[in-house]
Amino acid sequence: MTQKWRIVVGSDNAGVGYKNELKAVLQRDPRVVSVDDVGVGTRADDTAYAHVAVAAARKIAAGEADRALLFCGTGLGVAIAANKVPGVRAVTAHDSYSVERSVLSNNAQVLTMGERVIGLELAKKLVDQWLDCEFDPGSASAAKVEAVTLYERRKGEEI
Ligand code: RB5
Repeated sequence: MTQKWRIVVGSDNAGVGYKNELKAVLQRDPRVVSVDDVGVGTRADDTAYAHVAVAAARKIAAGEADRALLFCGTGLGVAIAANKVPGVRAVTAHDSYSVERSVLSNNAQVLTMGERVIGLELAKKLVDQWLDCEFDPGSASAAKVEAVTLYERRKGEEI
């Protein structure tokens, strides 16, 4: 392990249980140097998932954090919203292979999961695995990720 991660966590009220559980796990992990919680704090807070996801993604885009771990009911809404922030690559993943490839193939900085989809212990196991994954900018995947970035800059126009 070479990298120590600055991580943002966030969720809507459908994902706050797992967000708070994983926040505590991350705070105890020696691979993590900081955990920044962008909310929500309780199930009573019905802030829409888009707001927390974009707040977290903006921190990644600004270089204030390395990664974000986001939860909602499905993991889907927070991923869609986080991907609206330029420079951010967010994926929903609930299996080991996808979590690993989200970093190694796609250089995704944001991992999202659904509290209504995955068991808590599996979510913890996958996050543990995620912390050990690091993108290799010298890999064959780098040019493919760069193509995605170019399309983003061109707003989907041909490159
Ligand atoms: C609940 O609002 C649910 O729609 C949300 O948590 C998320 O699953 C959306 O993608």
